[in-house]
Amino acid sequence: MSKHSASKPLIEDYHLLSYDVLDSTNEEAKRLAGGGASHGAVIWAKRQTGGRGRMGREWVSPEGNLYVSFLLHSDKPLEISAQLAHVAAVAVAETLEAIVGDACEIHCKWPNDILLGEKKIAGILLESFTTQDVIATSGRWIVVGIGINIESFPDHVLFPATALRDVGVELISAKIVLSRLVYNFMQRYDHWIKKGFADIRKSWSARAYKLGHTIEIVQPKATLQGVFEGIDASGALLLRDGGTLHTVTAGDVQLVAESCS
Ligand code: BTN
Repeated sequence: MSKHSASKPLIEDYHLLSYDVLDSTNEEAKRLAGGGASHGAVIWAKRQTGGRGRMGREWVSPEGNLYVSFLLHSDKPLEISAQLAHVAAVAVAETLEAIVGDACEIHCKWPNDILLGEKKIAGILLESFTTQDVIATSGRWIVVGIGINIESFPDHVLFPATALRDVGVELISAKIVLSRLVYNFMQRYDHWIKKGFADIRKSWSARAYKLGHTIEIVQPKATLQGVFEGIDASGALLLRDGGTLHTVTAGDVQLVAESCS
């Protein structure tokens, strides 16, 4: 099998690369792919100096929280590979649920956020790119970057935020959260490769934030309002506005801040 043959299970190819500091684990993943790294690299940094969030936002990244990127080679069309954001969201949700127990409910907020109660505790940045080498062997690289607030969260953020420490979870390190997340992500990724999106969609929907409620989707040039009816088979959000069902592929769901405890 070539070093990046067709989308294949992660378990057999997993290898962890640890750093004290990086600009961004997503950037390092891209550099590694350009330099011939293979499918299954998991890039972990204790802190980041140029952490990035969605839509060009900064992801403030002091030591104590988790910053990790999975480098995956995919021969699937881009709209299918985009489902990896949901694969990651379910893995993050499962990881956090096992840690917080009944202390607080975990929600998946479309498209790429994880909430603890009503506050953001984790975010996912999915990026895709090709290298000359990949074009020659067909397919593309996908980087799934995940940030989880363990010890702290930034003061000035767009959405209300929280960290594990905020809900009384103190004795857990980024390394332990990483090992659990890697395990859950590999399980979910391998299932997605073998069986497709249906079970991920179910697991994501069971935790969906504001499902059945009226929500606002903020986009760069418009704000849409309607009832959140779920995600479709590609992972896009279904928004009912009167008699019209919109399929939304980009934007941020507006949050209403409430305390979880
Ligand atoms: C978001 O909610 O806007 C997405 C945040 C993603 C942050 C993670 S931390 C690890 C990886 N490296 C980055 O620079 N960003 C992602």
